[in-house]
Formats: sequence, C-alpha cells, structure tokens
Amino acid sequence: MNYADFHRRSIEEPDAFWAEQAKLVDWHKPFDTVCDYSKPPFVTWFAGGQTNLCHNAVDRHLATRPDDKALIWVSTEVDKEVVYSFRELHAEVQRMAAILRELGVKKGDRVLVYMPMIAEAAFTMLACARIGAIHSVVFGGFASVSLASRIDNAAPTVIVSADAGSRAGKVVPYKGLLDEAIKLAKAKPTKVLMVDRGLAKFERSAGRDEDYATLRSKHMNTQVPCEWVDSTHPSYTLYTSGTTGTPKGVQRDTGGYCVALAASMKHIYLGKPGETYFSTSDIGWVVGHSYIVYGPLIGGMATIMYEGLPIRPDAGVWWSLVEKYKVTSMFSAPTAVRVLKKQDPAYLKKYDLSSLRALFLAGEPLDEPTATWISESLGRPIIDNYWQTETGWPILSLCNGVEQLPSKFGSPGLAVYGYNVKLIDEATGKEMTHSDEKGVVMIEGPLPPGCMQTVWQDDERFVKTYWTVLDGKHMYSTFDWGVRDKDGYYFILGRTDDVINVAGHRLGTREIEESISSHANVAEVAVVGVADQLKGQVAMAFVIAKDASALGDQAARLKLEGEIMKVVDSQLGAVARPSRVLFVTALPKTRSGKLLRRALQAVAEHRDPGDMSTIEDPTALQQVKALVG
Ligand code: PRX
Repeated sequence: MNYADFHRRSIEEPDAFWAEQAKLVDWHKPFDTVCDYSKPPFVTWFAGGQTNLCHNAVDRHLATRPDDKALIWVSTEVDKEVVYSFRELHAEVQRMAAILRELGVKKGDRVLVYMPMIAEAAFTMLACARIGAIHSVVFGGFASVSLASRIDNAAPTVIVSADAGSRAGKVVPYKGLLDEAIKLAKAKPTKVLMVDRGLAKFERSAGRDEDYATLRSKHMNTQVPCEWVDSTHPSYTLYTSGTTGTPKGVQRDTGGYCVALAASMKHIYLGKPGETYFSTSDIGWVVGHSYIVYGPLIGGMATIMYEGLPIRPDAGVWWSLVEKYKVTSMFSAPTAVRVLKKQDPAYLKKYDLSSLRALFLAGEPLDEPTATWISESLGRPIIDNYWQTETGWPILSLCNGVEQLPSKFGSPGLAVYGYNVKLIDEATGKEMTHSDEKGVVMIEGPLPPGCMQTVWQDDERFVKTYWTVLDGKHMYSTFDWGVRDKDGYYFILGRTDDVINVAGHRLGTREIEESISSHANVAEVAVVGVADQLKGQVAMAFVIAKDASALGDQAARLKLEGEIMKVVDSQLGAVARPSRVLFVTALPKTRSGKLLRRALQAVAEHRDPGDMSTIEDPTALQQVKALVG
C-alpha cells in the first residue's frame, strides 16, 4: 500500500482507520466509539470497550504458541540466561499477581517498581496490568530524592524492588536508596516486596518488607484471571522531566495503548509472531515499557531483556544474541552505537546477523558518522525513529511495513500514521508552509491512541504544559525544533525547553540545578546541555560560590566540584551528574534578571551567542569562555 494514502486515511478517517487496527488485539467487550474528542484536548479511544494488556501480551498466545519463547532474560553481569515460554511467563505473572493481591493491591492502586533489569520486573509490570493495578516504574539509576518525589506523586500501595543491580561487574545496591527514599517521602507504601538476588545484604523492615521467593512458593499454582478493564483504565504512569517543577507522571490508558503497540509492531517494527525482538533499553524508560515488555509480547514475539553493557565481556555480545536467538528486529540508541564504534569492528563480522531485518534507533539525534558506520558494518537497514515518553510510540519513522521508502541521513523519516504533525512558527503561531523552515514540532489534536491521557492527577498541568490553541485548533507541543524537506522528511534540531538528552536519557536541567543548590556553598547555579561526541550531550554546571575564598586554588575548586557531584549522585543518581562544575562570579542574565541559557550553552559549545544587547554584565560570558577554553 502507498504510505501517503495510509497516513492520509489515518488523519481524515480516524474512526475507520483505528477500528481496523483495533482488530489486531483481543477485546473482552467491543468498544462503542472509536475516538471521542468532545472535550479537547482530552481524547478517549475505544470507549465502552474492555480489554486487558496482560491478556493481549501473554494469555492470548497460549492457544497458538504456548511453548514458543516469550521472555529471554540475559545477564552478562551475573552470567545467567533464562528463557520463559509463553506458558512459563503466564505462570510467573500469575504468581506475581497473586502476591500483589495478597499484599493488598487492588484495581486502580499504584505499584511502584524500582528494579534492575531482571525478569521479575517484567513479571511485576504484567501482573499489575493483569489485576488492573497501575505500575509506575522508576529507573534504577535514580537515587533517593528523585525516587522520593515519585513515591509521593504515585502514592503506591506496594513498592517492588530488589537487593541490587550490577553494572560492569560491580554490585549496585538498591535497598539502601529505597529505604532512604521512603523515609523522605510523605506517602508511605504499606508493603515492600523484595526480590533477593543474593548480590547485596540489606536490612528488612519488619511488618513492611516481604520476601518474593517465600511468597512465590506459596502461590506456585494460584490462578489469577485477567481483570477486564475499560479501555480508558490507566495502565501505568511513567515520570518524565520538563522545564518546571517536579517530573510529570505521564498517564497511559489500556485499550488505545494496546492497539497502538500492536499496530506499530506490524507497520513500523516489522515484527511477526514467533520471531524475536531485542531492545537494548531499560525498563525504567518508555522504550523499555513499549518495546521490551508490551509491544513485542502483544505481537506474539519473544523479547530479549538484557542486563549488562554492550561491550562486556566484549563488543560482540549483542550480536552473539542476535545470532543465537535469530533476532529479526533490534532497537537501540545512537549512544550505544557510538560506544560500539570505538571497539574493534571485527566483532560485528564474527556473527551471523542474517536474521536481522532492521536496526531501529531512537531517543536522541542520530549523527551521520554513527549512522554510516553502523549501516555499513551491519549491512542492514538502519531506521531512525523519533518519539517521546508522552507519546509512547513513534511520531516520526519510516513505516516499512506499509511501504518501503528510502531513508535519509539525519532524518527520522515521515509523520507516522495517526499523527497530524505540523511545524509552527514560534513567534507568530502560524504553520510553516515552506520546506526547510525551522519551527516547533507540534501535533494537531487528537493525539492518536497510545499517547498520554493526561498528567497523573493533574489535568490542568497536562493542558497548560503541552497544549495551545492556534486558529481554533488544539495543538500539542513536542518541545522540539524541526524542519521538513520537500519530500515530507523531518529533521529534529533539539529541544525548545530546558530538557537535555544525555546518552539518550532525558533530564531536566532545573532538577539538577535544584540539587546543586542544596550544597551549602552554592549561591547560584545554571546547568546547560553541552554537545558531546559520545553521549550526544552532557550536563555542565556553572556555579557562583557563596564563599569564594574556598576556591583559592585549583585543588580547592576540584574539591568543591567533587562535593557538588556527590550531592547530585546521592540525590538524583549518577545519571544526572554534571560532567563538569565550573565556578564563575556572575551568570549571564538580562537586566530583568532572566538567565540567558541559550547564550550560556552557545559559549560552552564554542559557538557565537548571538545578539547580547540585553545582557546585564558582559564579563559573565567572558568568564565562561575562558573556562571552557
Ligand atoms: O528531543 C527529542 C529526543 O528525545 C526526546 C524524548 O525523550 P524521551 O521522553 O526519553 O523518549 C524517548 C523515546 C524514544 C524528544 O523530545 N529524541 C527522541 N528520539 C529522537 C530524538 N531526537 C532526535 N532524533 C530522534 N530519533
């Protein structure tokens, strides 16, 4: 089929289009309406319908492929590999669901998941979906303060965690951070379910902490049927950063998400039942939700869940898995490819990669040298795709399952079906009609199925943060700049807000600033993202010390820099640690006191800051220039 027609139909006849896609999933009760957009910008997909994500991901495959591989857990950290068939996954998920029920979890309750990349994390997510509980996975790399704010927002009945993760062979304990976070949080979980991997000793809080292995042995044969939920029932929340305030809980529905993922497996990710999908992300991020756990399983595919680094024991480890499990679709991030690019390319030639249909990359801009290197080394199509935690699945991509179209270097492709993408002039609010003009990437409402329903418990924040009315139409902002060429291919040019992207991890500079400000000797701080060859961007902090006499010499500056980094490590996690903390006596501000972030970033990247006529103190930028060399 012609993709242009496919896309046009999705926009012009959304009801017919999505009703067709909805046939890809099982419904317990058919829906009455496809799209209800009577209260914009809120949209309801498949109202009246009832379904269950876990049923679609697991149970429905029992009839046709019970012994096919479903979850392949591989850890090069603890040197283990466990394969669960759909039948075995079904049993494990029921056990976990029985445990959650026993611990008091009911439909609509939140279950916070703070876990490393272990199979039990996937069991927990699926078990929540099974009983209609709402999971909220927090990335294992976040530390106690980040975790505490998420606990407070989600107010979970139960938290599921583990003794430790492992990174590069080093044990990374979780439980101490979790205990600290629970202490900091106002909302207290009634129970904490601990998976004890035997990696790190931890203290148990009597009456609160429960042992997974013990409870599992009680429920070896407990049957927990799927709870049929309304299509609009929230399946999960996932926190993500923006410019202001605490991270937002992106809330996802059930029916729309299920349909969107099932359709994306077919049209975008080229997956077929019985095949194997390998996404190298982490369950703490949206890619892990959509394309480690739910998408592949809904599509009847085996999914690989990998704990470890891409270069350990050597740079061939991912490709060895592609060969061993005959991976057909693989999903990773440009940073991971850049890491591999620094290794001996012979590792790529060592394995039979003939099963692989394509490598999908997302999460951050794909630069041309990286794209060329991986495409030549693999000899397989590389498909860049652009999306967000908010959308849950691609906004821009090639939809090769519909029509094979050429890719263009530096472009994540065309607007995906269901997305009415527009480029808007920031100053005038008018749509860019000519090609190659830079504008804000916006999506005309309604957002298609699978995208965020709202901000958890904050409809007003959802509307205020993301939506503007232009020419009487509700428009969702992605907060990204973009251009479109004459063939409809988009190019993403970076964020319009204060979000930075470090190695594909989305971070809010304001959160990092807040954390740094809590150090006793910090008077003022500005954090900006600075281009980095390996990680895409790194965070750089510019600090005005309260007591500058403490910064007499280089050794003193390094000491304070180290202390500040430690504060960020312990509060937010190493993932948010700035690459450098540099000390200045003034920050570039306008005369009205507004921080000139873009100028600061430009100078830190050795670029021209542009028109600086509004700056209060021109020496502020000169200091920065001198520091970054
Ligand atoms: O700035 C865009 C960038 O990552 C942001 C979304 O990050 P996150 O919520 O973590 O979701 C990642 C889902 C893959 C976007 O606003 N981004 C994502 N994909 C691309 C990208 N930038 C350029 N090219 C991409 N393919």
